[in-house]
This record gives sequence, structure tokens and C-alpha cells, in this order.
Amino acid sequence: MAGRAQPPGLTGRTPIGTVTRGTTGVNRLRRSDRWLIHDDLVIDRLHRAPAPLVVDLGYGASPVTTLELAARLRRVRPEVRVVGLEIDPERVVPDRDGVRFARGGFELAGLRPVLVRAFNVLRQYPEEAVAAAWSTVLGNLAPGGLLVDGTCDELGRRCAWILLDRSGPLSLTLAWDPFTVERPSDIAERLPKALIHRNVAGEPVHALLSAADRAWARAAPLAPYGPRVRWRAAAKLLHENGFPIRLTRRRLRDCVLTVPWQAVAPNPPSGPGQRPA
Ligand SMILES: C[S@@+](CC[C@H](N)C(=O)[O-])C[C@H]1O[C@@H](n2cnc3c(N)ncnc32)[C@H](O)[C@@H]1O
Repeated sequence: MAGRAQPPGLTGRTPIGTVTRGTTGVNRLRRSDRWLIHDDLVIDRLHRAPAPLVVDLGYGASPVTTLELAARLRRVRPEVRVVGLEIDPERVVPDRDGVRFARGGFELAGLRPVLVRAFNVLRQYPEEAVAAAWSTVLGNLAPGGLLVDGTCDELGRRCAWILLDRSGPLSLTLAWDPFTVERPSDIAERLPKALIHRNVAGEPVHALLSAADRAWARAAPLAPYGPRVRWRAAAKLLHENGFPIRLTRRRLRDCVLTVPWQAVAPNPPSGPGQRPA
């Protein structure tokens, strides 16, 4: 850091949060980008915003995923403005390709975006920090604004994200590479921080992943038609078995599972000040 002027936050306020590892990679977040530009609610919010502003929070050691997000969102709303915020001043890069970069944290550097994407940011925080981080981001969104809090592996083959608005979490989505992931529960180790410690018997997210594996096994006779056809059948089975999976008629490149948050919301603590065992 010596000898290099630190880029200021947009407001001069100290950014809220902690510098963490900056691991990122080209096209790492493609599955979530694809989902975002096809999700009805996200599209609706982007269209309704008079001057849509999107923040990529915690873009890491390289701004590549922010630039990719901007390019994909412009297909939905060409005039969208995208700002990459990073809490580590060393990682703030000059503006590029119509995208602005600045220092900022969960307070969003005074911006009021309609969409915030924070991928692989909260993963490195303790579980107890999630509620406050969500609350700070959600409190700084534009009216109708959305937050995507997600996690994925290094190559973006196994991804999971939670979509939230000011009322709280709305849905959980799992998305994975049809050709390298063996079964749906392989995503478990990439669940967002709010859920990763809840993949234990008795918790709804564990029940969902177990049922998804069973449906995937039952759909094995369709394997010769490829993993996408097999997953489509497995998702339908899950739906018939009472899991409120979102079914889509659109042909998808990824295997995707989206459920309302109520289907996976963690059980409340079992007693005063206690966590479920
Ligand atoms: C693992 S990288 C993720 C990079 C990119 N989003 C991705 O998924 O490939 C996490 C980045 O988030 C940054 N970060 C952590 N907490 C933050 C906060 N509160 N506000 C902004 N950036 C934050 C870290 O400094 C780090 O560079």
C-alpha cells in the first residue's frame, strides 16, 4: 500500500465490513448472471426503475465479474449503470467499459441501487454477521430494490444464492453444471452463509437436498438423454412430492432449482438463546 493514494469511498464514510480474500475468475458468476437476466422479478424491477443502478459488492482482486454482469444486464436494460464496490482500497480499479469502480462496503457508499449482487462476500464472515449485513444493504436499496447474496466454487460450477428485498429473503436458487456435478446435494458445501450450517437432519434445507437426490436417482432411466433432461424430470418429481420448486418451460443451460424462502428457512432456535443441536 505504501506510496499509493487510497481511493476514497464515494461519501468519505468508512466502509462497513472486513477485507477478505479476493478470489474471483473469468465467467465465474455466469450461472447467476443468466438467472438474473431471465428472472421475472429482477427484470420487472430493472424495468420499473427510472434510472436503474446496480452495485456489484465485493468484486474481488479483479473487476472481471462486474464487467460481465454489466454486459449481461445491458441486454435487459441498455441504460443500466453498474458500479463495482470493493472494501479493499488496493483492489479499486479505474472506471472501465462504462462501469464505475469505488471503495465501499455494506453501506453501499451512499448509493441507492435497485439491485445489489454480493457473491462470495458473506461466505468469509461468521454466520452471526449475516443478519446485520443484510439489514444494512437492504436499508440502502432504492424502493423495490433487491439483493442477491450468493456463493459458488472457484470455477462457478456449483452455485447457490438467496434473493432478498426489504421484507427479507424471498427465494433460494441452486444452479450447477449439468456435466460435472454428480448429484444436487453436491451444492451443499456452497450454500450461502445463512444456510450452510443448516444442512443437518431436521432442517428444511437438508430435507430439500435429500429429496432432490432421491428424485435425481429416480430419474436415472433418463440419463441417456443427458443430465438436463434428467434434471427436468427430477424437478417435476420433486414438485409432485410437495416441494414448491419453480418449474420453467424455458430450456436451461444449467441445472437450476429455485424454491421460495419459506421452503428452506432455518428452524428457529429451540429454546431461549439456544441453537438447534
Ligand atoms: C472472494 S471475493 C469475491 C469476488 C467476486 N464477487 C466473485 O464472487 O468472484 C470477496 C471480496 O469481497 C470483498 N468484501 C468483503 N466484505 C466486503 C464488504 N463489506 N463490502 C465490500 N466488499 C467486501 C473482499 O475484500 C473480497 O475482495
